[in-house]
Amino acid sequence: MDNNMKFFNTFFTLAVISLLLLISNVPCEAQLSPTFYDTTCPNATTIIRTSIRRAISAERRMAASLIRLHFHDCFVQGCDASILLDDTSTIQSEKNALPNINSVRGFEVIEAAKLEVERACPRVVSCADILTLAARDSSVAVGGPSWTVRLGRRDSTIASLTLANSDLPGPFDNLTRLVEAFMNKSLSARDMVALSGGHTLGQAQCFLFRTRIYSNGTDIDPNFASTRRRQCPQTGGDSNLAPLDLVTPNSFDNSYYRNIVQRRGLLQSDQILLSGGSTDSIVTEYSNNPQLFASDFANAMIRMSEIQPLLGQNGIIRRVCSAIN
Ligand code: HEM
Ligand SMILES: *[C@@H]1O[C@H](CO)[C@@H](O)[C@H](O)[C@H]1NC(C)=O
Ligand SMILES: *[C@@H]1O[C@H](CO)[C@@H](O)[C@H](O)[C@H]1NC(C)=O
Ligand SMILES: *[C@@H]1O[C@H](CO)[C@@H](O)[C@H](O)[C@H]1NC(C)=O
Ligand SMILES: *[C@@H]1O[C@H](CO)[C@@H](O)[C@H](O)[C@H]1NC(C)=O
Repeated sequence: MDNNMKFFNTFFTLAVISLLLLISNVPCEAQLSPTFYDTTCPNATTIIRTSIRRAISAERRMAASLIRLHFHDCFVQGCDASILLDDTSTIQSEKNALPNINSVRGFEVIEAAKLEVERACPRVVSCADILTLAARDSSVAVGGPSWTVRLGRRDSTIASLTLANSDLPGPFDNLTRLVEAFMNKSLSARDMVALSGGHTLGQAQCFLFRTRIYSNGTDIDPNFASTRRRQCPQTGGDSNLAPLDLVTPNSFDNSYYRNIVQRRGLLQSDQILLSGGSTDSIVTEYSNNPQLFASDFANAMIRMSEIQPLLGQNGIIRRVCSAIN
């Protein structure tokens, strides 16, 4: 074949393929995209970032709370803002599930951001996307990594108290169960260890770490245990708070892993990541390499934020985040 012939063959093949694609008229699968609101609400991401930063300036812990709220949304029916729905005659709110009640916070911050976005572009931006952006903006606000958020999630019309009770990992879970809970959401053991690094921020209540600090076990630094016992008595003080990261609870860094190496993890589920099992080497890696932790955290947050999104015509855009329209 001479060159002209080759050119013609290639051209002809491409033309046929294009034609087939045109006439097959396959509906374009809806998917997440970073530019999703660029024409319908170009200011959305700025409005949200400003609103979230304001809330974190008022209370630094809010960054932690919003990152956790997003996690507890995504593990239950996917990232569909189901956690934001209040009780009604037909909705059993996830807010009352064991891992959430008197524990997750930040609802009013998301609702306030939603209100501002609604003012600019009514019924365009989902609560699920606002919560996803809020988690990313929270990380950035406290010195953590940034990442590109793909958008276009829609909001659920239902919630599941049952799934909120079964699918979220607990602080007394063993390593097998922790790995399994994340595997059930298509996240790896490495993702689980990186995402647990969210505990570089925020606080936990006494009743969730009491057993550990009074255990006299070999997996806890006795001085650390003794310090934590001062604010967490054997009886009473159930909701007294202690920082999950004893060094820098208000900024994003790898000290969560360095604590664990020193047997100063607060929750049993923190210390268990370094207990002779398959995740030991990952904890050690992150404790030695803050950049690696930050980039693995960012990538795992992206994967977590894309668990089972409602796309296209599925779900709704809520007017307020706490109720269906
Ligand atoms: C690996 C399994 C996990 C378990 C067992 C777990 C458990 C807990 C517990 C028991 C608390 C304290 C709640 C309270 O005292 O009311 C907490 C707080 C927190 N968790 Fe997790 N968590 C896990 C994974 C994650 C993940 C994946 C993230 C996010 C990427 C995360 C982010 C946070 C944050 C930021 C806080 C502090 C919240 C605040 O101060 O308001 N956790 N977690
Ligand atoms: C976006 O913000 C700019 C400047 O703040 C404003 O002029 C514009 O009207 C806003 N657009 C929308 C769609 O809200
Ligand atoms: C982990 O916990 C589960 C359920 O709580 C239990 O069935 C399993 O035997 C435990 N595995 C290990 C290795 O302890
Ligand atoms: C993972 O999913 C399986 C199958 O649905 C379920 O039986 C198991 O309890 C789940 N494990 C965890 C830790 O959520
Ligand atoms: C741990 O040691 C303290 C002081 O020696 C003791 O009072 C406590 O009962 C012990 N706890 C357990 C769980 O063995």
